[in-house]
Amino acid sequence: MIQSDLDLFGGQTQRLASHTVLLPGLVLERVESLLDVLRPVLRAAPFRHMSTPGGQAIGVPVSNCGTLGWISDARGYRYTEHDPLTGAPWPALPALLVEVAAQAALAAGFEHFLADTCLINHYLPGTRLSLHQDRNERDFSQPIVSISLGLPAVFLLGGHARNEATQRVPLNHGDVLVWGGEDRLRFHGVLPIKPGEHPRMGARRINLTLRKAR
Ligand code: SIN
Ligand code: FE2
Repeated sequence: MIQSDLDLFGGQTQRLASHTVLLPGLVLERVESLLDVLRPVLRAAPFRHMSTPGGQAIGVPVSNCGTLGWISDARGYRYTEHDPLTGAPWPALPALLVEVAAQAALAAGFEHFLADTCLINHYLPGTRLSLHQDRNERDFSQPIVSISLGLPAVFLLGGHARNEATQRVPLNHGDVLVWGGEDRLRFHGVLPIKPGEHPRMGARRINLTLRKAR
């Protein structure tokens, strides 16, 4: 970790674990630009429900952009070059997302982060994401950068085993959470989203996770 980079964000930055950093409101001033680049992505690759390899529906509809996209079906969890819904390559990863991800990663102490994919999750009130690890990427030395938009959420930051205690981390519109290094494979999830209406986003939460999958 590079302590001096953290200092730039002063008291705002919250270190939640040795290599897990919350950057509250980091993208608040760029929300409109983020929504502008997401709109065409979601037109080309709409949100869809996927199912676990065991055949259970995953409650969070997802989409992707980048050279790879994360999918789940009867054949397992993996990254593909094509959107199985349309057969087309996933929409390109907007430069703005690559830039924001690198900046957030640096602020959290991870240099030279070059995302090649973005998983987009869509939550309605009541939607939850059960505890899981992000482990379909090739290189666990690269962090995950997570951007929250819309309704607030409570993120569960667990340990390296599913049954370890979890920290409850409130995530609000515009917040960025970065985890990597020895925290890269921590279990994590999201509690059911509380009913509400976000002034900009309506009754939904959108989460972007930028990753280096290859
Ligand atoms: C994820 O773990 O894929 C998403 C986490 C979140 O929605 O905050
Ligand atoms: Fe995850």
